[in-house]
Amino acid sequence: MANSSKKILVIGSSGQIGTELVEGLRQRFGTEAVVAGDIKEPQVKQEGPFVMVNAMDRHGIERILDKYGITEVYLLAALLSATAEKDPAFAWKLNMESLLIILELAREGRIQHVYWPSSIAVFGPSTPKDRTPQHTITEPSTVYGISKKAGEGWCNYYRHRYGVDVRSLRYPGLIGWKSAPGGGTTDYAVHIFHEAVKHGRYTSFLGPKSTLPMMYMPDAIRATIELMEAPAERITVHTAYNLAGISFSPEEIAAEVAKRIPGFVMDYAPDERQAYADSWPRSIDDGDARRDWGWQPRYDLPAMVEDMLRHLKPRLQASHKEHV
Ligand code: SER
Repeated sequence: MANSSKKILVIGSSGQIGTELVEGLRQRFGTEAVVAGDIKEPQVKQEGPFVMVNAMDRHGIERILDKYGITEVYLLAALLSATAEKDPAFAWKLNMESLLIILELAREGRIQHVYWPSSIAVFGPSTPKDRTPQHTITEPSTVYGISKKAGEGWCNYYRHRYGVDVRSLRYPGLIGWKSAPGGGTTDYAVHIFHEAVKHGRYTSFLGPKSTLPMMYMPDAIRATIELMEAPAERITVHTAYNLAGISFSPEEIAAEVAKRIPGFVMDYAPDERQAYADSWPRSIDDGDARRDWGWQPRYDLPAMVEDMLRHLKPRLQASHKEHV
């Protein structure tokens, strides 16, 4: 085991990232070293401690910190872009209050290390769209993006003013087979696989040419753990690091899927999420992450599609058989 004194709490452990991050952290640090926490039951049954916790309940969080001797918190609870637009006031409340509670607990010395995810949604229509630099215009047009931009500012502030060790990544759209996504604009790139396997066709809610930065979940989990393990003196970005994996459009991923599922058909019916996608970059320059802590993505588009289908096909076909 890497460090036996480490005790981690993942808040938002039942979500798309949380489900996989808990598994990754447990593989790295041991099952008992990682406490999963959420207001919802886990998506998949996992060995190891699980607690019910509301990310806006400071006292509830404090009780868990004390009970388990938590040293490190990964705060993943949030409303994503599409869901947040349906209730902007609540999205702001959840996304900000939860972060400020954790940053305050860290300032008070009750947590030693904090991870909080940011997003490509901090960028907006005025941001350069190709190879978007680390330091550039951030004028987000979604409430999700506004909350991520403000959160980055708070992380930077707590680092500089109080010396809090809080680290963050601007995740691209994340694609994985172990957990279901919820409420994001980039979720089409997960749904496409499920529908392709089950029905051989999918109607995308983004148009064919909407190129966005994306990443396969194993890369995202590895990036998160590598960032958190990097020596503090290597970290030079205290807002959130740009992080790049693969950039592709709906028609490009559809073509890769069709190579492996003959006859697959993609239709397009763009909805309100098209406008959020249009406001985001096409590709990201993650040179700072590469330089500071050695970031290197491993999956390109064909490798990701291959791996997704290799895992999803038997799973979905088995559950389909159970239902007929
Ligand atoms: N995947 C997120 C979303 O679509 C972007 O960070 O909301």
